[in-house]
Amino acid sequence: MSKTDNVKGYETKTINWYPGHMAKAKKMMQESIKLIDVVVEILDARIPLSSKNPDIDELAKGKYRVLLLNKSDMADEKKTAVWKKYYEDKGFFVSIVNSKTGAGVKATTEVIQKACQEKIERDRKKGILARPLRAMIAGIPNCGKSTFINSFAGKACTKTGNKPGVTIGKQWIRINKSVELLDTPGILWPKFEDQKIGLHIAFIGSINDDILYPEDMALELIKILMKDYPEVLKERYALDLSDAGFDSSNDITDELEFNQKALAVLEMIGQKRGCLKKGAEIDLLKASKILIDDFRTLKLGRITLEMPE
Ligand code: G4P
Repeated sequence: MSKTDNVKGYETKTINWYPGHMAKAKKMMQESIKLIDVVVEILDARIPLSSKNPDIDELAKGKYRVLLLNKSDMADEKKTAVWKKYYEDKGFFVSIVNSKTGAGVKATTEVIQKACQEKIERDRKKGILARPLRAMIAGIPNCGKSTFINSFAGKACTKTGNKPGVTIGKQWIRINKSVELLDTPGILWPKFEDQKIGLHIAFIGSINDDILYPEDMALELIKILMKDYPEVLKERYALDLSDAGFDSSNDITDELEFNQKALAVLEMIGQKRGCLKKGAEIDLLKASKILIDDFRTLKLGRITLEMPE
């Protein structure tokens, strides 16, 4: 465990997280990628940057690309629109979806067709008219791959491809006459070089909570809330942010000062919620868990943690 002096009296720990089956999953993707026309990468709309793995750009070279901003019901609607445009400007075909309710899911067929227009035209010229496009779903753990596949495939889908027991091969799910999905999604582990990315991925539950440091997560979340959603902190926890020395008109550039103010806010949350240890010391761990849980269960409202640079 490495430590960085972050706030006086409090040290930030680096998440030492080893992505267990990375090599196996990468190999599966490398093998499958030859068979498919289009990679449909699922992002969590609350962290559209941290949930996107640049490795896939290398893996999916020469393939058509679709990005789905999933869990849009949990993200800030205006910011999701900004992200959609951001990725479209980079050449991706992007769709906003909520796999849980199915909103935007069926329309993915159309987006896939648009992304593969060039191939469709090429096939047409060769006289090939009814060949379904072959797609693979990819994304980091917990971004909603299974939920999306279930919603996209619905009940009527049929499995096609090699018969089990005859040849060991890929299973395909026929979505409709235009699209077939590989039934095994590509699991991508996110880039983990930056501690901030690690924390953001932790917020959405992609990393086992047992190996996390809730206080670090809480401080990062508070800093984002102080900057972008100060009213949420005020309303949810009845805080007066000026008690933490925070004035929303201040542009905080000093990281240490910002961390100290975030810590003061965490202490205030602990106080308001009665998170006290023996001797009336504030239980920061308990306060942190309350805040993280409130974020994950939408009690803080729809929040996007990242914006394009
Ligand atoms: P994965 O295959 O990529 O690992 O993700 P999975 O589909 O298992 O989804 C992870 C969690 O995210 C699930 O919640 C799922 O219901 C939820 N989820 C997926 N898409 C959406 C969405 O668009 N909106 C919302 N609000 N949630 C979504 P869970 O708590 O693990 O399971 P459950 O309680 O829903 O059964």
